[in-house]
Amino acid sequence: MQIDILDKEIDNISADFEVVFVVNKNLKHEFIKDSKLFKIANYNGEGVFLALENKILYVGINKLDSNSIRLGAFNAYKNLEKLNISGFKIASYFDTNIKDCFVALAEGFVLGSYDFNKYKSNKKNYKNLKITVSSQSYTKEKFCIETAMQSINKGIIIAYCANFAKDGVNEIPQIYTPKMMAKQAQNIAKNNLNIECQIYDEKFLSQEKMNAFLAVSRASTNPPRLIHLSYKPKKPTKRVVFVGKGLTYDSGGLSLKPSDYMLTMKSDKSGALAAMAIIEGASKLNLKIEVHAVLGAAENMIGANAYKPDDVLITRSGKSVEVRNTDAEGRLVLADCLDFAQDLNPDILIDIATLTGACVVGVGEFTSAIMGNSDDLKYYFKKIAQRSGDYFTVLDFNEYLKDLIKSNMADVSNTASSRYGGALTAGLFLENFIKDEYKDKWIHLDIAGPAYLEKSWGYNTFGATGIPVRACLYFLDALKDN
Ligand code: BES
Ligand code: ZN
Ligand code: ZN
Repeated sequence: MQIDILDKEIDNISADFEVVFVVNKNLKHEFIKDSKLFKIANYNGEGVFLALENKILYVGINKLDSNSIRLGAFNAYKNLEKLNISGFKIASYFDTNIKDCFVALAEGFVLGSYDFNKYKSNKKNYKNLKITVSSQSYTKEKFCIETAMQSINKGIIIAYCANFAKDGVNEIPQIYTPKMMAKQAQNIAKNNLNIECQIYDEKFLSQEKMNAFLAVSRASTNPPRLIHLSYKPKKPTKRVVFVGKGLTYDSGGLSLKPSDYMLTMKSDKSGALAAMAIIEGASKLNLKIEVHAVLGAAENMIGANAYKPDDVLITRSGKSVEVRNTDAEGRLVLADCLDFAQDLNPDILIDIATLTGACVVGVGEFTSAIMGNSDDLKYYFKKIAQRSGDYFTVLDFNEYLKDLIKSNMADVSNTASSRYGGALTAGLFLENFIKDEYKDKWIHLDIAGPAYLEKSWGYNTFGATGIPVRACLYFLDALKDN
């Protein structure tokens, strides 16, 4: 996407169309030229208004802040891409956080340009609109154009990475197998600076005694892959390791999901795609942080050799797990992947997973949950992540919850003895596989609610959302300043 800033008043810029943000229903601002039409059409500044004669699209935004600007830019792009125009111009909008506002503006446009239409015969193949930003600002305040341009470029990269993750998650399970994920990871390494990729097959998994990961994969005709991507810049200040749940399909296994619940389970690879997109973003943003992504790619299927409820699995860590439900497979794959990831000696370890339906029930479908042992890390992540506009909430562990995953057969059970607190008991299951020295360096993100939508909201369209790619890139970007 091409976005430029010109050091000119908006009226002195030539473009096919203009976008004006109507901030908090203020219809009296000097940018507004169609007040008479507004009266006739009963437009009060909410939603969008297309003034064809003046070639202006008015887009209502709630506030002059980065989150509202992102949504406004998304709505502007979505409405204008349908027109037969080659581009549009827009003034500069920002509050005190100028950088975040320009990042968000660019993100909104790039998110607005996303569409997954490869399986439609009648494709709306919209061309990319060229966008020109005027240095004239809504508040009449001056700003540094060079810094704003850097923020715009950052926003383009961040949202591009979210769109990349969406493409992978939206891809259908018959095509997007663990091998396909491995191929995509190799392409990322080939096409970006300082990224390496290692792919490991079943033989390696058995050498490494990753028996929980192997058990989950066993009944599928699509073999599992452990994928390790690493971004290593010169002189990094920190090492952050992401672990992604990459179930390319989750049928539930022998504890088979009912049909209604199985639908959308191609999205059970969202954590892995997010981690892959984050690596790409780290390289494209040229971050001075070493970033790793460990992806557990597998398919949870049924068959004569499927793993069973009643099985006991000895994980890579040596801990034994009683399987009481084969649909609680994500935590089994992650247990082995988290153990592998700790060998990389991370300063921060973050796992990303569509882990539990209970999380969706508990916090709603718009919000991701953050779990872990360190309040400092959990709340720091939340504070930074929220600048991306996505919703996060912290769920706290407690000692009593631990009793719910005790097993009479093995060291731990993969299923809690109570339905209550299912997101937390899944998080606590993972916590069992975090070694003492990493207990306070680890957080778990349950993205089961917002990763995939059947009904769009905000700038998140039907299907995959790319959550929490942007949030994690904001986090890495903030870490580099610490
Ligand atoms: N992939 C699902 C969780 C999920 C549910 C993600 C809905 C996205 C939307 C996970 O593997 C699962 O099936 N979890 C079970 C665990 C239970 C059997 C303990 C669940 O949440 O029901
Ligand atoms: Zn499952
Ligand atoms: Zn799953």
